[in-house]
Amino acid sequence: MKSNNYPIGIFDSGVGGTSIWKEIKSLLPNENTIYLADSKNAPYGDKSKEDIIKLSIKNTQFLLEQNCKLIVVACNTATTNAIKILREKYPIPFIGIEPAIKPASLSTKSNVIGILATKGTLNSELFEKTSSLIKQQITIKEKIGTGLVELIEDGKIDSIEIKKLLTAYIEPMIEEKVDCLVLGCTHYPYLIPQIREIVGEKMQIIDSGQAVARQTKNILEKNSLLNFYKKEGKHQFYINKNKQVLELLVSKNENIKVIEKDF
Ligand code: DGL
Repeated sequence: MKSNNYPIGIFDSGVGGTSIWKEIKSLLPNENTIYLADSKNAPYGDKSKEDIIKLSIKNTQFLLEQNCKLIVVACNTATTNAIKILREKYPIPFIGIEPAIKPASLSTKSNVIGILATKGTLNSELFEKTSSLIKQQITIKEKIGTGLVELIEDGKIDSIEIKKLLTAYIEPMIEEKVDCLVLGCTHYPYLIPQIREIVGEKMQIIDSGQAVARQTKNILEKNSLLNFYKKEGKHQFYINKNKQVLELLVSKNENIKVIEKDF
């Protein structure tokens, strides 16, 4: 088998990165994928940079053992804290995800944008670097989404607890004239219906999922790594916790394995 037909590896601290997997599958239907949910160690957002790097290396090793030809770090927290190290350490292409504050800054009319993300992302050097350029023209209202990842990992997506947290985090942004809300965590696209209930049509909701899928395609093309078999790709999921929520988000019919060993 030529490396073109090897799978794309995707990892996240948990199930949220499946929002990115869906975009990749839709744009690149012939590609095989392997998705790794490190749910046992979620959330990454409150961990130290060192711990996030260690976990990202562990996840990368796992995907490399399965012959992945490219790795998508489908986690803003892992990207903003660890992708530089991963790129230095491994010879394959890595695609990362960062909060889409730049597109939001081009789209805003009120010149005030909001971002909901983890503490790890908002405190990272990479986010600081990107946002400092934008802050010269645009006001950015940053909010840490404390508790949201845990509730999503527990499958409580449509719960009162989630609605209360989202209201507390986002409602003040309406007063602050935010007209573009950036979802800076790959778990949050699953909350778009609940966010819409709070903000109505007052805000544009922006996430980076489609941009990541497009970038994945570009990099595969550039490296002559696109799968040349014109048949539907195969998908494999691994999780180191129970698999119910993953089944709920991607489908019971997908091939989902629970990692039993200490991982
Ligand atoms: N999906 C991860 C992200 O994009 C969640 C991080 C976490 O586990 O706190 O940031």
